[in-house]
Amino acid sequence: MIDQLKQLLKKAITEIESVKSPHELSEVKAAYLGKKSPLQEIMKTMRDLTQDEKKEFGLRVNEFKQFVEEKIDAMRNIMEERIIQDKLNDETIDVTLPGKKVPTGSIHPITQIIEEIEDVFIGMGYRIAEGPEVELDEYNFELLNVPKGHPARDMQDSFYVDENHLLRTHTSPVQARTMLHLKGKPLKIICPGKVYRKDDDDATHSHQFTQIEGLAVGEDISMSDLKGTLSVLVKKMFGDDRKIRFRPSFFPFTEPSVEVDISCFKCGGKGCNMCKQAGWIEILGAGMVHPNVLEACGYDPNKMQGFAFGVGIERVALLRYGIDDIRNLYANDLRFLNQFVKKG
Ligand code: FA5
Repeated sequence: MIDQLKQLLKKAITEIESVKSPHELSEVKAAYLGKKSPLQEIMKTMRDLTQDEKKEFGLRVNEFKQFVEEKIDAMRNIMEERIIQDKLNDETIDVTLPGKKVPTGSIHPITQIIEEIEDVFIGMGYRIAEGPEVELDEYNFELLNVPKGHPARDMQDSFYVDENHLLRTHTSPVQARTMLHLKGKPLKIICPGKVYRKDDDDATHSHQFTQIEGLAVGEDISMSDLKGTLSVLVKKMFGDDRKIRFRPSFFPFTEPSVEVDISCFKCGGKGCNMCKQAGWIEILGAGMVHPNVLEACGYDPNKMQGFAFGVGIERVALLRYGIDDIRNLYANDLRFLNQFVKKG
């Protein structure tokens, strides 16, 4: 019987050493240690042995089981290590290969211009102010010297939400809000933001566009401060070569008022469809803050003066980049927008 056991062990070892997969190993384990293994058959003959022989045989059976189990475990470890090693060899990463490019967005040209203008004015001591896009009629018009029924309301055709609220038609209401908030103190602010008008969309007009408002109030502020400040802005935006002109104009909230035009980028001033044959494109309105506005917003017009301006950012973009239709700025066409990606 002991010999049978020795032979069985030899066979088991040979089979364990020749398996090719963990699955085969499990099958060998069941074949030699399971309920239907030859070992069980050999053990059935134990009943014919003497007490001492039984003891001796029991010890040998336990040794057999232990040896086979250990051999199987060792073999399993070897196989698992081999599998990991094979995987590592197959999956070697070449760190020198170029990586996949992750597409990133970039800053919209309108936002780029806003940020540049903010930098110019922060450099001159201005602060940035904000106001709501759904505005009270009081701030958008009344405090700016445009009472209800005033013909100047027709200059900015408005989207009303209800009797007292509208989508702001310009960023000038932020002037009134800031002055009322600062209660007579000197101030220098700029306010970028979206504005809305019932204008028909064409190459240079949109029903929604972007303005930056500027306002400086203090003692001894004059029209020449306004001219100097706007010249700095225009030169920073367009370079020293672009022709600009100040044209007398009218706004109910400024007196005197001006509009600033830049020579048309398309025809250079000769007249074309872009500039409606004028040779110039208007980019901003400006003037000295009207005494009625100063007074309504808590400032004494006999002691303080101010200048204000409102610049159309899309118009700056058209002129600066030679864009021939304002609607391109809102179409989200990457072929168009990719021209404005800042490198580096
Ligand atoms: C105003 O909106 C005044 N609030 C500006 C102002 C502020 C004057 C402070 C005096 C003192 P105006 O309606 O002209 O003014 O518009 C200002 C600028 O916005 C224009 O010069 C132009 O560049 C731009 N703009 C006006 N309408 C449109 C439009 N429909 N689409 C695109 N840009 C426009």
